[in-house]
Amino acid sequence: MFKIIKKEPLNPSMTRMVIEAPFVARKAMPGQFIILRVNETGERIPLTIADYDREAGTVTIIYQKVGKSTLLLDEQEAGGYLMDFIGPLGKVSELEGYKKAAVIGGGAGCAIAYPQAKALHAMGTKVDMIAGFRDKDLIILENEMREASDRLIVMTDDGSNGNKGFVTAALQKNIDEGADYDLVIAIGPIPMMKAVSNLTKPYGIKTIISMNTIMVDGTGMCGGCRLTVGGETKFACVDGPDFDGHLVDFDEAMKRLGTYKPEEAREREEHCRLYGGIK
Ligand SMILES: Cc1cc2nc3c(=O)[nH]c(=O)nc-3n(C[C@H](O)[C@H](O)[C@H](O)COP(=O)(O)OP(=O)(O)OC[C@H]3O[C@@H](n4cnc5c(N)ncnc54)[C@H](O)[C@@H]3O)c2cc1C
Ligand code: FES
Repeated sequence: MFKIIKKEPLNPSMTRMVIEAPFVARKAMPGQFIILRVNETGERIPLTIADYDREAGTVTIIYQKVGKSTLLLDEQEAGGYLMDFIGPLGKVSELEGYKKAAVIGGGAGCAIAYPQAKALHAMGTKVDMIAGFRDKDLIILENEMREASDRLIVMTDDGSNGNKGFVTAALQKNIDEGADYDLVIAIGPIPMMKAVSNLTKPYGIKTIISMNTIMVDGTGMCGGCRLTVGGETKFACVDGPDFDGHLVDFDEAMKRLGTYKPEEAREREEHCRLYGGIK
């Protein structure tokens, strides 16, 4: 069992939790994730390692409440326990040797992009962080992202923070103004990662995206997480989750992510009916 040390809401739909998991904390590296199960009947869900403290033996996760399992997770409180917390899983992000990077997060994707920005910045790479949210009430990790970058640009779809537009508008502006990126990292909804990859392709800027496919075991045994990259089948849990954005078949990935939509909606509705829904 894995103890919940701390729980803290970041906005109405996102929560940060610190979990006691010394074996995961000892080996965790940027880009990796864990798979957790809240209780015996829970499903296994993948969440990125947002931070870790090797000495304290803790791992931080940040999750968005989107369906049954994340709602169930959010019903747990500090002092309680999670049944399974397995990791670190996935390949470590390859971040060495870049001069100037743009790290782009979309909504909940900022929780996943933030550790990448932090690691790059610590290695001496100049980092522009571009974070996009639907509106200003959903902005998370602003201070953390500012600290992890040389420049932070926060965009909102509705302009409620005074900076209206998608992350791609900010990226295009920076490129037009001469930002000489040798790396772009984009993490967020698939349409956003596709748009960023399409933008950078003509400039030949290396673009890494993090694939949030459906996962079951997370150890390469089932292929539930498969996707097509450069015409080849890859498993996101062992070959990724980082991939070259210029090679990923995003349309296929989007279709596969929608496979269980009716079942997910039914489970969420049933859970909300029994336990009172999102708090
Ligand atoms: C490697 C990896 C790292 C991830 N890291 C994080 C993270 O740090 N924070 C976070 O909030 N989420 C993260 N996700 C997504 C997270 O796993 C899903 O949101 C979660 O499994 C949803 O479970 P649920 O039962 O609550 O919702 P479900 O009922 O399973 O789904 C509800 C809705 O969310 C969508 N959804 C389901 N699974 C995913 C998925 N894997 N990615 C995107 N959308 C999904 C569904 O299409 C549906 O619309 C990550 C996914 C992967 C593969
Ligand atoms: S989740 Fe089963 S192989 Fe990746």
